[in-house]
Amino acid sequence: MAETRRLRLALVTGNKHKLREAQEILSPYGIDLYMAGPEKIEIQADSLSKIAMVAARHAWESLGKPLIVDDSGLFIEALNGFPGPYSRYVYDTLGVDGILKLLEGEENRHACFKTAVALVLPPLEMVFEGKTCGTITTRPKGSSGFGFDPIFVPEGCSRTYAEMTVSEKNKVSHRAKAMKTLGSFIKSMF
Ligand code: IMP
Repeated sequence: MAETRRLRLALVTGNKHKLREAQEILSPYGIDLYMAGPEKIEIQADSLSKIAMVAARHAWESLGKPLIVDDSGLFIEALNGFPGPYSRYVYDTLGVDGILKLLEGEENRHACFKTAVALVLPPLEMVFEGKTCGTITTRPKGSSGFGFDPIFVPEGCSRTYAEMTVSEKNKVSHRAKAMKTLGSFIKSMF
């Protein structure tokens, strides 16, 4: 029987939803993802890739094992890309309702979710990106997922991320696109 090589990779996060989404994507590429501390550090910067890579290098210092860090953000056109790289802070302070309030009466509901996944697999250090655009709803819909999922409808869909199963979200999501690029890259190397 042919031996299948699998790579164990740590996802540095405390977010079990991110882990579940990424596990489902990466498993067919021969990657077994597990959740690991330490708590991801988050610098303030204008680029998700930079935030993810700084956090990944920092995590490597204490973990010393192959790892990835996922940094994501919601970029709303009518707000000139806000909250973007500040999405975590804005989610924690204003939440979903705060974003809907900022967009009250606004006709332009266009927004994009972006993910940067930083990989540290010495000597390799790389970042993989994914982006999905869509619209912001006028009220929250759905109860699955996390974060801004209840207010984001991806292009070509009629439901929010929070009205989808993990597998459905993975067919279209920003995170899935970044993780698939990472998966293909790793598969081509091993
Ligand atoms: P993080 O810094 O990558 O953890 O994400 C920044 C913020 O964006 C978090 O507070 C999440 O609530 C939100 N976020 C990240 N990814 C997603 C997603 O896939 N769906 C909905 N919200 C997300």
